[in-house]
Amino acid sequence: MPQAVLAVDQGTTNSKAALISADGRVLSTGSSPVALTTPHPGWVEQDPENIWQSVLKAIALCLNAASGAARTPAVEVVGIALSTQRESVVGWDRSGRPVGSVLGWQDVRTSSWCAQLPAAVDEVVRRRTGLRVDAMFSAPKMRWLLDRSPDARVGTVDSWLIHRLTGCREHLTDAGNAARTLLYDLTALDWSTELLEGFGVPRAALAEVRPSNAGFGSTKDVPGLSDGIPIVAVLADSHAAMYGQGCTQTGMVKATYGTGSSVMTPVDEFVPGGCTLAWLTDHPVYALEGNIVSSGAALAWTADLLGLPDVGALMALAATVPSAEGVVLVPAFAGLGAPHWDREARAALTGMSSSTTRAHIARAAVDAVAHQICDITDTIPGELTTLRADGGATVSDLLMQTQADLLGHPVEAADVPEISALGAAELAWTTVGASTNWSQHRTYRHFTPTATDRTHRRTTWSTAVTATRTTPTQPTPT
Ligand code: G3P
Repeated sequence: MPQAVLAVDQGTTNSKAALISADGRVLSTGSSPVALTTPHPGWVEQDPENIWQSVLKAIALCLNAASGAARTPAVEVVGIALSTQRESVVGWDRSGRPVGSVLGWQDVRTSSWCAQLPAAVDEVVRRRTGLRVDAMFSAPKMRWLLDRSPDARVGTVDSWLIHRLTGCREHLTDAGNAARTLLYDLTALDWSTELLEGFGVPRAALAEVRPSNAGFGSTKDVPGLSDGIPIVAVLADSHAAMYGQGCTQTGMVKATYGTGSSVMTPVDEFVPGGCTLAWLTDHPVYALEGNIVSSGAALAWTADLLGLPDVGALMALAATVPSAEGVVLVPAFAGLGAPHWDREARAALTGMSSSTTRAHIARAAVDAVAHQICDITDTIPGELTTLRADGGATVSDLLMQTQADLLGHPVEAADVPEISALGAAELAWTTVGASTNWSQHRTYRHFTPTATDRTHRRTTWSTAVTATRTTPTQPTPT
């Protein structure tokens, strides 16, 4: 019977499962949506049980697809690999019952609490974690949950899934996910006592941090899976995409187009206060990252505004005009993330005239996704050699060509929708001794810049972004 790693990619909008062979072939997939609610302005919640059930559903669909009509297992699952949405926080009690909703990464309810933290805490955060105090990250969310449930265990989504997959036996997290909490010291490779005190999060409430392929227990009482299957590798989703894209050298940049977008590039050496941890195996791999708050979400919002059924229809409408004709959408619906970092900024649609049509607004939304990526790559030092793109929106040739045009560099779009799952699975297979390097055999769609008005479009965009700003700070990634 062929062997496979079962990769689970748990994201903001859905959970996906894929069986992946040692040579990187996707044998079968399953997917299940996850609900998201916004009970108050700035609050973005999910149900921990709904996330878990969606993972089980995705696994069941994936296993069923592999076994086909025979209804007997067609593959031997030799290990599990996890790739998970980052920063979102779950709290649960000693019996494994959630103590409340997941506070999603887009949730900014703790913004004003973050704003009143002493500047000294922000200074330590920057020095120890390479991040900045912001409501997107986990620590303020953990504090919010612990204020209401002081005895809870808290963790990022990887911890929650590991807990459930192991029959509620383990409380573990991988170093890359830990690095997104604001509590993890990137050089000591441990929770920072100083930061735990700064945010009021007790160490005992947190998971044990392990290297990304150190093993995270084994399955117990998981419907559809035998007991004892090892959880071999765990990566944060954006990091898993960089691993899967084979971006291992400086100059190679990956951009993941999801609900938000993440741009990441590895660095040769630790940059104090300026980089993040991508993953930890026998050595830490550091990276520069910029996280964009609204990317696919901006496309969905615009489709809705224009009364279109979905983002595909938006792309089709955008393609009916050669340009946005000076219309600019700055999708700062929940403020601006990297590299502008102004969470009080609000969205703007500018540059309209009486000849502006719905198609120009659609086109402006597509441009906005690409401009935001460029804003981050502009802050990355050194020569950009390749931008490797992945994520749902990359199916759009219009978006990918726009990206190449605004970047002034070629773009390679991965021809696989499961890149994060593949990245986690590749790390798992490597860990158990398989020879991998799958990205070298992958096919990419190539997009070469052709536009001659790049400088003008970038300037128009920058002017519109500046107009939405409430604080004039220097652009920085991470
Ligand atoms: O940082 C948030 C990110 O991990 C969410 O990813 O794929 O759910 O948009 P995604």
